Amino acid sequence: MTSIANRTGPAVEEAERYTAHNYHPLPVVIAEAEGAWVTDVDGRRYLDCLAGYSALNFGHRHPDLIAAAREQLDRVTLTSRAFLHDQFGPFCADLARLTGKDMVLPMNSGAEAVETAIKVSRKWGYKVKGVPDGRATIIVADGNFHGRTTTIVSFSTDPEARADYGPYTPGFRVVPYGDLDALAAAIDETTIQGEAGVLVPPRGYLPGVRELCTSRGVLFVADEIQSGLGRTGATFACDDEAVVPDMYILGKALGGGIVPVSAVAADRDILGVLRPGEHGSTFGGNPLACAVARAVIALLETGEPQRRAREVGEHLHRRLNALVGHGLTAVRGRGLWAGIDIDPALMTGREASERLMARGVLAKDTHGSTLRLAPPLVVTREEIDAAVDALTEVLKA
Ligand SMILES: Cc1ncc(COP(=O)(O)O)c(C=O)c1O
Repeated sequence: MTSIANRTGPAVEEAERYTAHNYHPLPVVIAEAEGAWVTDVDGRRYLDCLAGYSALNFGHRHPDLIAAAREQLDRVTLTSRAFLHDQFGPFCADLARLTGKDMVLPMNSGAEAVETAIKVSRKWGYKVKGVPDGRATIIVADGNFHGRTTTIVSFSTDPEARADYGPYTPGFRVVPYGDLDALAAAIDETTIQGEAGVLVPPRGYLPGVRELCTSRGVLFVADEIQSGLGRTGATFACDDEAVVPDMYILGKALGGGIVPVSAVAADRDILGVLRPGEHGSTFGGNPLACAVARAVIALLETGEPQRRAREVGEHLHRRLNALVGHGLTAVRGRGLWAGIDIDPALMTGREASERLMARGVLAKDTHGSTLRLAPPLVVTREEIDAAVDALTEVLKA
């Protein structure tokens, strides 16, 4: 027997047997990681082109983030939110500065932050805008992905995410993504919020949404959980068109790939609607989370991750675009973030990701024949070249 599967096989079997099958992972069992690379239990190395769905924007085990976590582990990891701790105020101040907003509300997972934004928007609708009780509506884009809670899947248009989980939470209207006229038509006096999806919007769409929201008295809430914090080459994807939403929803990379940290950031006239006891989370804003997130914000404030995402991302897109017509049918994205459509006549997305894995590159199919490439922002041009060379071989084979 070769060294292959000596330890991988049993680990895969165990996972298959003892976990709910809510994911369909590639048969790779990771034991260690550093920077843009992971090593499996059999010692094989892979370039990580998924990066924890962008939770690992700064790479695996970034030394500054690990140092911040270590230092905090030796001091205090959790307090009751009934008390303050010495990382809380500084974290909130740091994130307020990064987002340019007055206040933040820390949570843990992305879905919790989205739920928080929904609750805050509704409360703002009733208390500030004067929407009649129980009638607030939120407009979302079709094809959206904002998480997995029962309320969030209620406004999903993906049958896989939504089917069998009803009855659904009312109060949402779905409009076609990128269509300003449809958005304008969907807004009425009960509308409090528009939420952007994760595909790169047509040029002018986000500024148009901003204008519509301002002129119609509607909150513009941007879910930058995956697109934010450097991924697209800017601190926030909205920056690309100089658009400032009323509320940012952040998560994933905010926890530096170490702890789950999410947050909502907005000005006082919006987040100020919450009163003690109306919303909360045991772990939201805990000392370990705040210490790591402060180190994340410090990295972002150097501008270096954004610069790398821009420069290396341009190289990635140049190389990928050269494969359109040679096994790829389309390439989308911005910065170090690409959705690539494999020619379905060649293979499925799953097959492509398995073949890439065999060549030392980890990426994962999203839907059908689309693969998402989102390596850590510390990835080098040479590593991108190696990954695209592997993809080229897979497409040729
Ligand atoms: C845009 C967006 N919103 C929300 C979420 C949900 O985040 P979480 O999985 O941390 O709940 C995700 C996760 O992929 C996301 O990409």
